[in-house]
Amino acid sequence: MNMQTADQPTVRAAVLGASGYSGGELLRLLAGHPRVQIVAAGASERAGLTVGDVHPHLAPLGALPLEDLGPDVADRCDVAFLALPHGTSAQLAPALLERGARVIDLAGDFRLPAEEYPGWYGFEHPAPEWLGKAVYGLPELFRADIPGAQLVANPGCFPTAAALALAPAARAGMLGAPVIVDAKTGVSGAGAKPTSTVHYAQTEGSVRPYRVASHQHTPEIERALAAVGGGDVRVTFVPHLVPAVRGVLVTCYAPFAGRTTAGDVDRVIHEAYDDEPFVRVLGDGTMPDPKRVAGTNVCEIGIGVDARTGTAIVAAAIDNLGKGAAGQAVQNMNLLFGFDEATALPVLGVYP
Ligand SMILES: NC(=O)c1ccc[n+]([C@@H]2O[C@H](COP(=O)([O-])OP(=O)(O)OC[C@H]3O[C@@H](n4cnc5c(N)ncnc54)[C@H](OP(=O)(O)O)[C@@H]3O)[C@@H](O)[C@H]2O)c1
Repeated sequence: MNMQTADQPTVRAAVLGASGYSGGELLRLLAGHPRVQIVAAGASERAGLTVGDVHPHLAPLGALPLEDLGPDVADRCDVAFLALPHGTSAQLAPALLERGARVIDLAGDFRLPAEEYPGWYGFEHPAPEWLGKAVYGLPELFRADIPGAQLVANPGCFPTAAALALAPAARAGMLGAPVIVDAKTGVSGAGAKPTSTVHYAQTEGSVRPYRVASHQHTPEIERALAAVGGGDVRVTFVPHLVPAVRGVLVTCYAPFAGRTTAGDVDRVIHEAYDDEPFVRVLGDGTMPDPKRVAGTNVCEIGIGVDARTGTAIVAAAIDNLGKGAAGQAVQNMNLLFGFDEATALPVLGVYP
């Protein structure tokens, strides 16, 4: 089903966690990539079924088997995407890496220093020696680090949106404290497994804050801002679950530092992103909307100001399964293998 041509080298890709939501989105994007051959699709409880059984929207890939894949999948792939639960990636990745595969991890298992894992993720990291070798795969901020990497830590959905929104002004020293990130997410962010939290009857018509000031993406946002030169930023982060399927919206608030004006913030955001194919900076106070970027690899950014309190307000919207997961992972793969970074990544949304 892949659109290859005879004279082009092909990257052999394995998707572990292919029966999940991020894995399904990876299959959808990779199937449209002219330089990729999907060689294996992994699952756990649903191993033994086919892709068609669990992802009926991917009918042309329907016969692809879902396999219980172990480290030896590295012998038949060039790149392994790990769309697995936290903790599982960290167990599996070292063996894949030692066998020579390049690994793009969509879980949070290679994004923080080892000592942060027990507190934020609830496990001791089993492969701390790989943490220092992992690069943080947010191309718009850290593009130069990615091509030579063997292990890419694909950013979380909230950190992608929050870091893209805040990085330009943080890097320019334009933000004071506190920095507040208020986030909304659709229920696909919780994965494919049905739980009472995402049950339709409890979610429709509801908006609920969760993991208040204790979400594992908090230190990831802070580290990304520090890494762009934003200093020792502390972020108060509160996500909310909303009755939508796809989409993340973050609204970030911070006081202007020193004599910074709204025009300064607007300027550095435009300078940072006007040439980026996947960041769309909106003008004239227009605010982002996750619905407009559904199905794409785009991050929309809107800039506002509360002149009365001297507060900068930067909002960003992404598709959590696109730029927040599978789309960004494919963007990272394109950089790893020297393809045009935008290959097979949609920029036009599905609307309404
Ligand atoms: N959903 C999002 O918006 C999003 C965004 C960014 C990052 N992420 C991260 O991406 C990862 C996957 O998220 P998701 O939402 O796609 O999850 P999901 O829908 O729950 O899918 C999880 C996948 O992992 C497989 N799996 C579970 N335990 C396994 C094991 N022990 N060994 C091998 N495979 C196993 C599942 O297989 P079976 O179904 O066959 O059991 C399934 O294919 C998570 O770490 C998540 O935090 C998710």
